[in-house]
Amino acid sequence: MNWTGPFEEAAATLRTTFFTGAGVSAESGVPTFRDQDGFWNRFPPARFAHWAGLERLIQEEPLLIAEFISEFVRPIVMAQPNAAHRAIADLEKLDKDVTVVTQNIDGLHQTAGSSHVVEIHGSLFEVIEVRKSDDIISPVSPQSLSLMLSDLEALLKNGQCTTTQLLRAVCPILGVGPEKAHRPNIVLFGDLLPSCAWNEAVAAASAADCLLVVGTSQLVYPAAGLPALARSNGAKIIGIGLEDCDCDVLLIGAAGVTLPRVVSRI
Ligand code: OAD
Repeated sequence: MNWTGPFEEAAATLRTTFFTGAGVSAESGVPTFRDQDGFWNRFPPARFAHWAGLERLIQEEPLLIAEFISEFVRPIVMAQPNAAHRAIADLEKLDKDVTVVTQNIDGLHQTAGSSHVVEIHGSLFEVIEVRKSDDIISPVSPQSLSLMLSDLEALLKNGQCTTTQLLRAVCPILGVGPEKAHRPNIVLFGDLLPSCAWNEAVAAASAADCLLVVGTSQLVYPAAGLPALARSNGAKIIGIGLEDCDCDVLLIGAAGVTLPRVVSRI
């Protein structure tokens, strides 16, 4: 690092951790989960937010699953980082020690330039092959997701599809079978969090001097316990979003407006 003086060194030593949720990507066109037009309001989590429910629906209502996957994946594949993602990434240019712990699976923090992103709910751009001994994680390109979306669109236009047709269309991210099975490397309800990412998130929250909580309803645990953990280790909590939350400093407003204003003052 390039110190220019003791004040710069002191400022750079402050450890800043962001804890982000769907709200940070809302201005990129990715729907949140629990707002009025939220994803879970259209696709109720009791049916769609766990693998057992999805496996049942693949067999019983393949057309509905084609719609669900298409609606879920399309906004993420189309999205570009917004001013909030960019402001967080810009902090690193100020020689700040910045960690981003995100519940999002859209990869937008990395696209914006953040170099230390901990994805505690996984990534849509990875698939996991679940094996007896060890799981294998492989990348999925945006191009293959786009091709999958075109295939799903054709099925939806047709107004009908069989389970076999659905599985053929979604094979870049989902394969079922006794020999080889793979699925998106994302955490749904009832899944364990990836232990490596979760341990990193706990370490980052515990070590933070300041935790900025951005665009999350803080309703889903264990992730929602991170602010309390950070506070108990002495961090100041800054809440940024459209709703009130338990924090030391509350900045109500859209993340894409509020975060650049905060960062410009550092
Ligand atoms: P939610 O949909 O629960 O909450 C989104 C939050 O973002 C709400 O507090 C909104 O008010 C706020 N918000 C909306 N637009 C905003 C904007 N432009 N700027 C700032 N804030 C905004 O989403 P999460 O808290 O991320 O997990 O949900 C947590 C987890 O629940 C997700 O990771 C997912 C979901 O089920 C799993 O699937 C395991």
